[in-house]
This record gives sequence, structure tokens and C-alpha cells, in this order.
Amino acid sequence: MHLFTDIHSLQGFLTAYKYAGKKIGLVPTMGALHSGHLSLIEKARQECDLVVCSIYVNPTQFNNPNDLVHYPRTVSSDRQLLESVNCDVLFLPDDQVMYPQKTLLKFDFGYLEHVMEGKYRPGHFNGVATVVSKLLHIVKPDQVYFGQKDLQQFAVIRQLVTDLSFGVQLVCCPIIREKDGLAMSSRNVRLTANDRALAPLLYQSLQLAQKWASAMSVEQVKEAVARHLAATAGIQLEYFEIVDSYTLQPVKEVDEHEMVSLCIAAYIGEIRLIDNIFLNNS
Ligand code: PAJ
Repeated sequence: MHLFTDIHSLQGFLTAYKYAGKKIGLVPTMGALHSGHLSLIEKARQECDLVVCSIYVNPTQFNNPNDLVHYPRTVSSDRQLLESVNCDVLFLPDDQVMYPQKTLLKFDFGYLEHVMEGKYRPGHFNGVATVVSKLLHIVKPDQVYFGQKDLQQFAVIRQLVTDLSFGVQLVCCPIIREKDGLAMSSRNVRLTANDRALAPLLYQSLQLAQKWASAMSVEQVKEAVARHLAATAGIQLEYFEIVDSYTLQPVKEVDEHEMVSLCIAAYIGEIRLIDNIFLNNS
């Protein structure tokens, strides 16, 4: 695997592939890689001639400074994992490379960021859109891979690449879970043993809500989920929403012909986790 830490050498390397008409796939990450990330690399590996993974813990998307300080950084094991799935290129920039000056540009995604993650993490999607725009400009991939795990991030990036005509094809990959259902996340390693045992309750709540939705109103399902989680000390529900899977806007009632998603965010002890499922399939 080739490692690049600066833009110029990375672009020099990529030029030959672009001239040869090779398909380049990009998988942006913040590292602390797990099987969820690797599933994106594997998908890119199947579909592209050259797979580039970026690892950069992007400070501008952290609304909570404590979360940024404690975000896990495991570059040497990340490199081994990337080798194991035949990733071709690792782009590993530092803050000076990504932010040579303080960015002044601000993104406003309107209704897409007035709900859920946008509402509870002010500035988060501005930081995500900034860094993803930079990575797309730097690598100029044909395809870029994201996870359904961050459903709202995917919706925001879909809006971004269309509004700014990035001309890249977006690929959304399914959520990879632990055996007990917990969605894999770089933050899971920060859970205490007790909190780790509680964490699968998030996915269980989503599955229960999926069942309840066939017999209850949207409001009743939301109340039932809140009640279900309130019964467990150590879990602090931030939101549970039933939303249109594309616009992310809350639905008033469930229409089986629409794509609807159930989305949840909660603190398990000190750690904030998110998860979601489609109402009509896993
Ligand atoms: P990060 O949290 O490292 O995630 C990188 C990519 O992996 C995202 O597209 C995310 O949705 C996907 N992913 C995470 N957990 C997953 C799982 N369990 N199953 C499948 N895919 C999963 O998301 C970010 O980084 C950043 O916001 C980034 C896009 C890199 C911009 O900084």
C-alpha cells in the first residue's frame, strides 16, 4: 500500500491512473478502523481499479471538544487492516495539509440539518461538508463510498455533490453490526464494560419500534421507545425519529410506499452513539 501525507505527491501518483482511464474509488474515514469501514473498502475494491482510503480526524466536524480529544487514533493497526483488504493508497494528511488557513466558507443545508444530528450537533455538517469537499477536490475519484450508519451525513453529501456538480458517483453501503446487533463504530472502544453491555439496546429499540409501527401511530411509537429506554439507567436518549429516508424530515404517519427510516441517538454513559434502520427491511 502506498502512503501519502501531502497533496502534491498523492496527486502526482494518481495522475498516471487518471490518464490511463482507471476508475478511482475513495473511502473517507477518521480511522480507528473496524469491519464497517473495511466493508466500504471491499466494495470499492470490487468496483474500482484503484482504491484510496483517507484517514483524517477532522477537527471542524467535532462540536464537542472533549470528543475530539478522546477520539481513538490507531494508525498502525489501521494500516495493517487496510493492507489486509488490499487497499492501494492511504492518504494520511495532518491539520496543516487539510487546513493551511482557517476556513471562512460556511455551508447551509437548510431543512436537511435542522433535524437530528444537525440539530444536536451544531456546525457538525458544515465541518463534514468542508472536509469531504476538500477530499473530493484532492483525489477527484470516480466513486466515493459512505455508510448508511451515518444516514443524515449521506443525505447532506448527496445534496453537496449535486449542488456543486462534483460529478462523483456516491455509493451507500449497509451497516455492519457486532453479533449482538450493536452497529460498529470507532467510538465503541470507549464504552466501559457495563456500557458495552447496554449498548445493543439501541438496535433492539429500533427493531421493537419497527414492529410497533405496524400497529401504533408515529407518536405512540416515539413515546414507547422513550419509555423503553427510560427504564434503563445509564442510557440517555437524545432523539428517536421516524423520518423520510431521503429528506430526513419526520413523517406524521407511516406510508408503506415511502422509504422511511427509524433513527436514534443516545448517550451510553459518556459515549454518544447513533444507529438507524429502514422501516421496511433490516
Ligand atoms: P467515520 O466515522 O470514520 O466513518 C467513515 C465511513 O464509514 C462513513 O461513511 C461511515 O458511515 C462508515 N461507517 C462507519 N461505521 C459503519 C458501520 N458499522 N457499517 C458500515 N459503514 C460504517 O463518517 C466519517 O468518518 C466522517 O464524517 C468523514 C465522512 C470521514 C468526514 O470526516
